[in-house]
Parts: sequence; structure tokens; C-alpha cells
Amino acid sequence: MPSLSPDSAPVRSRRTAVILAAGKGTRFKSRRSKILHPLCGRPMAAYLLDSLMPLEVDRTLMVVGHESQAVREAFSHRQLEFALQSRQLGTGHALQIAVDQLGQIDGALLVLNGDCPLIRSQSLERLCRQVEEGASMALLTAAFDDPHGYGRIVREEGGQVAAIVEQKDASPSQREIREVNAGFYCFRARELGPALSRLDRDNRAGELYLTDLVGIFRGQGKRVEALISDLPRETLGVNDRAQLAEAEEELLRGIAQDWMRRGVTMLDPSSVRIESGVELASDVTLYPGVILEGETRVGQGCVVHAYCHLSNAVLEEDVLVDHCSVIRDSRIGAGARVGPFAHLRAGAEIGSQARIGNFVEVKKSSIGDGSKASHLTYLGDAVLGKGVNVGAGTITCNYDGVRKNRTVIDDGVFIGSNSQLIAPVKVGEGAYVAAGSTVTEDVPSGALAIARSRQSNKLDWAEQESKKIPTNKEGSREDKS
Ligand code: UD1
Ligand code: CA
Repeated sequence: MPSLSPDSAPVRSRRTAVILAAGKGTRFKSRRSKILHPLCGRPMAAYLLDSLMPLEVDRTLMVVGHESQAVREAFSHRQLEFALQSRQLGTGHALQIAVDQLGQIDGALLVLNGDCPLIRSQSLERLCRQVEEGASMALLTAAFDDPHGYGRIVREEGGQVAAIVEQKDASPSQREIREVNAGFYCFRARELGPALSRLDRDNRAGELYLTDLVGIFRGQGKRVEALISDLPRETLGVNDRAQLAEAEEELLRGIAQDWMRRGVTMLDPSSVRIESGVELASDVTLYPGVILEGETRVGQGCVVHAYCHLSNAVLEEDVLVDHCSVIRDSRIGAGARVGPFAHLRAGAEIGSQARIGNFVEVKKSSIGDGSKASHLTYLGDAVLGKGVNVGAGTITCNYDGVRKNRTVIDDGVFIGSNSQLIAPVKVGEGAYVAAGSTVTEDVPSGALAIARSRQSNKLDWAEQESKKIPTNKEGSREDKS
């Protein structure tokens, strides 16, 4: 209660929210609770909690049942109360349990189906207002071309809502009704308890239907308002994986449009997947098939080419990530170029203006500013200074079968192609490693390390060998294979 507000300010009545999330989600066919399944990288129910935020709800209670422990843990960081519905006897039963736990409450009580993640705050606000202006109950409806599976809204001739009839219980003519119950309700809290006690299980599912409250209130001559959503997509209920994909597509489309309005260019927005925790600066260009996940941050002017997959990647300004590169839990400095076909993971730190080329894997390594590893290289547990040149086919041999060991390569070092650096080992500033070397000892600064066997040329060997091989009658060599 805003006790500090001046006496003249209108005092907003109390608001409480209940999220119904105990259901088994049978149609989902999952071990996991349906509401924990991720949508754009976050559990489905997290979106519902976000949509409640602008409503300044005083208490939020989630009814849990199936996989209740996992659900509690997933939301333990949010300001939530939980109530346990150990047997799922229907949405009406779940609400009874919530109301019992909430105790004596006044004001508006919002009820949200836990499996409808796309709802917008303004629609919930509209429901609250109806109750705050005198209705006993308000509910949200939507007109669907295909209403199958949803409860149908039965209205009287004057347009007043009379009842909700569930799919299973609907007559053929009721099934023709396209206006459906979206699964969002608001009640005058004080009237709810008595109405709930009148629910029965006299229906096809043998459950206590929350939706029967419409008929109960109307039978008592009370005011029930059924508000039609002006954006039917927000009411999508996620009962199975196909609807999960539909909800995800919807969210992704919204996220992409939002970033494009904020200055991001996308060559094929429908193919780009940007999770909700990602942040992009302006003048970023994303080619088709790019996936950006987790806490990825992409700085101004970056270009990410087709089919790159970035997860918890931080790109400073003007980074170019070329085709088909995978970057996880890594940071890339301004102006660096990565890929095509590069793999950065587990804490790779790439300096500014550095170059990580094709078929280069970098793990738990830092690469100094302006350093280059352009082709076919593995850098693991390595620290590279500035201006280092790593030749094609270089391998840091970091694992001895027991421990991971470090390779240190100081500023300005040149590593010739096809070298192996057997860690722990250090190559000092400005040193050279000759191509094809297997480096097992530290290389002092400025030195040239050559660690390969000497070449010996056996002169005229080919001709002499050919004389040893017998020929057949036609004069060609016999095939001994
Ligand atoms: C429900 C509505 C239907 C509406 C649709 C909108 C009822 C009876 N029907 O149907 O009119 O069109 O939502 O999406 O309410 N739950 C519990 N405990 C239970 C049963 C369900 O907590 O015992 C929770 C579920 O976890 C879910 C929500 O309530 O989050 C809705 O239940 P669900 O079984 O999905 O109802 P629908 O058949 O979709
Ligand atoms: Ca549902």
C-alpha cells in the first residue's frame, strides 16, 4: 500500500497474482515441467512473470505440482510464493489451493495460465481495471480461425458472456464458436472463495474447471466482463511442442523487428535467431542463419556472416565474424576478424585487430592485439602476446594425459607452420620457431628454435629404385598390390 502517498492521491487497491503451473502437461510428453521448457533461451513462465511487472502486484503465488522442486528452484530468485497442488484435479482445484494459501485478501486477484507466455501487460491491466471498477470477474478472450482445444465463449443475445464451455464438453454447435477463453482472469478477491466452493466435477474430464466460475457468477446475477484481445497471438496456449515452436517463432519475430528498429541490419530476419538476453549495438549486420544466444553482446559496426553460432560471446566494435564460425563464452576485441569456420570456446580472449582464420580452434587462451593465427591451428591454455604470427597447422600440445599445461608466446614471436609446442613451454619475445618444429624447451627471446630432424637427400634414388622393380612382357611395371 502506498502509505507515503498524499491523502488526495487515489489509492490503488491491492493486487495479487496467481500463476497456475501444476499441470502435468501430458500433451507435451516430457520429463520436465512444461513451463520450464525454454523459449528464446528462458523458461516459458519467466515471460509471464515479466508481463506482471508493470502491474505492481503485491504478491505473486505460483501453484506447482508436476516437477515442483525443479520449478521452485528455477524461480527461486524471483519474488514468488509457491503453493503445492499434489494431485492435479483441474484448474479450479489449483485456484482453490492458491486461495487457501493466500488467506484473507482484498482487491483484485489475477489468475494466469502458466502455459500462455505471450501475454502483454496491457491486457492484464485491462482485466484488473474491470474488477477495480466493479466487475466480479473479468476474462480475456480471442477470436481464432481454428479454436480447437480451447474453451469456447458462450454469449447471450445482448452480447453478455454467459459461460465457458470446454472443448470436450461442447456441443457441435458450440464447437463452431470461434471466440475462445485465453486463460487470463481477474476476480474480486473477496468473492472468489465462496464461488470456488460451488465448483463440481460434473464434466467430461471429471475435473474442477476454473472456467465454470463464469456461469456461477452469472447465475448469481454478478457482473462478468469478457474482453476481446486486440492481438490474438498474445493468447497462444502452449500445450505441445508444435505450439512451443509457434510461440518461439512469434517471440523471435518480435525480437528481430525490435533490433532492426534499433539500427541492426538483417539480410533475412526470419532465419536469424536472437535470444531474449542478447544485446546488439547499432550498425550491426547479421547475415542469414545467424544464431545469437545467452548473454551475447555485439558492438557497433560488427558483421556476422551466415550460419555463425554465438553463445555468451562479447564482440567489441567492428568485429567481423566470417561464415560458419562457432563462438562460446569468449570475448573478441575491436576490429578483429574471426573465421570462416573458426571455433572459439571456454574463455577465449581475442585482442583487437587480431586475426583468427579458418579451422582455428581457440580454448581458454588469450591472443594479444594484432596477433594472427590464420589457418588450421589449435591454441589451448595459451597466452599469446601482441603481434604474434602463428603459422598454419600449429598445435599447442596442452594435455599430457593428466594435466592441462600452459603455453606462453611473448610479443612479436613468429611460429613457423606445422609446429608443435609441448606445454608447459615458453617462447620469449621476438623469437622465431622454424617450421615443422616440435618445441619441448623454452625458447629465449630473440632466438631461432629449430627442432626438427635434418633433411638428407638421396641423389638419383627414384631412378635406382625403378630399376629394381621387374617389368612384364608389355614393358610396364608389375602390379604387386
Ligand atoms: C485451459 C482452459 C480453457 C482455455 C485454455 C487457454 C480450463 C478448464 N480450461 O484449457 O478454457 O481455453 O486453458 O489456454 O481451465 N493446471 C494446474 N493444475 C491442474 C490443471 C492445470 O495448475 O490441476 C495449470 C496447468 O499447468 C496450465 C494451466 O493450469 O498452466 C492450464 O491448464 P491446461 O491443462 O493447459 O488447460 P487447457 O486444456 O489448455
Ligand atoms: Ca493449456
